[in-house]
Amino acid sequence: MPVHVVEHPVVTHKMSILRDKSTSVQRFRDVVSELTLLLSYEATRDLEVRSCTVQTPLMAMQTHTLTGEDFVIAPILRAGLGMVSGMLRIFPEAKIAHIGMRRDEETALPATYYENIPSPLTSSTVIVVDPMLATGGSLSGGLNLLKSKKPKTLKAICLIAAPEGKARIERDHPDVHVYVAALDEGLNSRAFILPGLGDAGDRMFGTL
Ligand code: PRP
Repeated sequence: MPVHVVEHPVVTHKMSILRDKSTSVQRFRDVVSELTLLLSYEATRDLEVRSCTVQTPLMAMQTHTLTGEDFVIAPILRAGLGMVSGMLRIFPEAKIAHIGMRRDEETALPATYYENIPSPLTSSTVIVVDPMLATGGSLSGGLNLLKSKKPKTLKAICLIAAPEGKARIERDHPDVHVYVAALDEGLNSRAFILPGLGDAGDRMFGTL
């Protein structure tokens, strides 16, 4: 199944901090970054490596290093921006593809308002980041946009998914693996994830 729930006590612990409405803006940002780093670890298990020789203080050994393939982080604005710093801790030379998508508050349908994507992507590993996978419209739209640029590899990392969003991505993009920290109960009438953590963008940027 392309949507993978990363089950780990540290991940659940950090998600509980994000869910708590008394968590400060600063703490919220820090924990989003930490969780993204943890999920990146799962999402990049199949990165290409090449063999090399390293001289330890005691002897030479054969080991592997990353090939240094082109790596692109694609945050879906706004809230995805908060996940970029966590990924840059592991991939400091990554390029950033900005995708602006906004959900209409009445219809919950996403509209693209900005895109700035490095080109070409044909030899790039691209990881889309967005904390919330609610109806799945924003992530599905972002993946469609990136697929039109034919990336070598395309994956996504989200923090919370609703079953509705999971089903949408599995239907629209069965070829894209998505790593999430939690699968919640469902959506309310305004397409907010329950129990969720509220509006990730507002909590991250202090615009409540
Ligand atoms: C939120 C969230 C996702 C989207 C998820 O963004 O960050 O991008 O909604 O909903 P969906 O799965 O139903 O498309 P929002 O549109 O509120 O914008 P923001 O990041 O600027 O707060």
